[in-house]
Amino acid sequence: MIVDTETRLIAAHGGELVDRTSERPDGVERLERLTLTSRELSDLELLACGALSPLEGFMGRDDYESVLETMRLSNGLPWALPVGLAVDQAPRGDQVALADPTGCPVAVLEVEDVYEYDKGREAEQAFRTTDAAHPGVARLYEQKPLYLSGRVTVFELPEPAFPELAKTPAETRAEFTERGWKRVVGFQTRNPIHRAHEYLTKVALETVDGLLIHPLVGDTKSDDVPAATRVECYRVLLDGYYPAERVVLSAFPAAMRYAGPREAIWHAICRKNYGCSHFIVGRDHAGVGDYYGTYDAQLIFDEFEPHELDIEPMFFEHSFWCRACGSMASAKTCPHDREQHVFLSGTKVREMLSEGELPPQEFSRPEVAEALIESYSSAES
Ligand code: ADX
Repeated sequence: MIVDTETRLIAAHGGELVDRTSERPDGVERLERLTLTSRELSDLELLACGALSPLEGFMGRDDYESVLETMRLSNGLPWALPVGLAVDQAPRGDQVALADPTGCPVAVLEVEDVYEYDKGREAEQAFRTTDAAHPGVARLYEQKPLYLSGRVTVFELPEPAFPELAKTPAETRAEFTERGWKRVVGFQTRNPIHRAHEYLTKVALETVDGLLIHPLVGDTKSDDVPAATRVECYRVLLDGYYPAERVVLSAFPAAMRYAGPREAIWHAICRKNYGCSHFIVGRDHAGVGDYYGTYDAQLIFDEFEPHELDIEPMFFEHSFWCRACGSMASAKTCPHDREQHVFLSGTKVREMLSEGELPPQEFSRPEVAEALIESYSSAES
């Protein structure tokens, strides 16, 4: 592991943690203004705080091509997904103001290049499908036709949806250091926390110093459970079942892409920037529907030499409650038949919740189920 000499934590991807925030420069109001989509705004926020180190702005043509073809930036550093800013036409000046979706300027971009891209090809390479029914592909197909690249300087960050959970990579790193942690495992999630998540995170925590529970709170597809409900579930679970001195809960302001395997690499690299030395990848990580095989998001790590990513993936088999074992288990650790295993699909759980029925204890801790059901009943009343 390449270690940051100051914090003794894993070094940021590419060596240095990027910071693209600054005071508001003069003359922003005179610049041509581009309004970002909410996905682009969340990428901008990640760029600003260094979560996408070593990127300092929206990706240029060489990096874009190289990422699609080789999963590496043009300098050879691993990178799995494009970070593009889509526009209708080339800007006139050499600087543009980037505005949030309400039209308020938040950043300046130094124009480097404007280039055409092939949406079908990007879909095929990044998402492994050109099917417009895939939510990430659908978003890509709706994008404007050109990519604008250039370094960004951000002077106004979006109000965090969960202020007490908003922590930049510099802040999570400072917190890990203060707690004396060196080996920290990061956990990405976009779903209400259930028993399998608890199992994975605790098994992982047994072998490292600390755990970063890092729910993604940017855009998700409309039938995913809203972030506010999920955050409530994380809180009640942490309060009741995790040792506070071993866990940091913080929000990851990215949007979901649903790119499965490539997104698993991307998620791992981002968490490395937040100071994690390890990263959990379970079943169908960042997947949607049946576009990806159950373990594709683990197999893709074989396409890199371990030192290239540096952050170490921790792979988990599909885990479930086994009645005969009386515990969580997986095919790796449990000898019993399927009849003993409690499997519930997300759809089944949503159905139960909307009918006011608590999911079973084997699926969800009662406190979490209560928090979920409360949000379902208040959403419907
Ligand atoms: S994700 O889109 O963020 O991957 P989710 O919140 O469901 O979705 O999953 C978070 C992490 O837990 C992922 O690494 C996923 O692979 C893993 N995971 C979720 N459920 C299980 C399970 N039953 N068994 C093993 N891994 C799981």
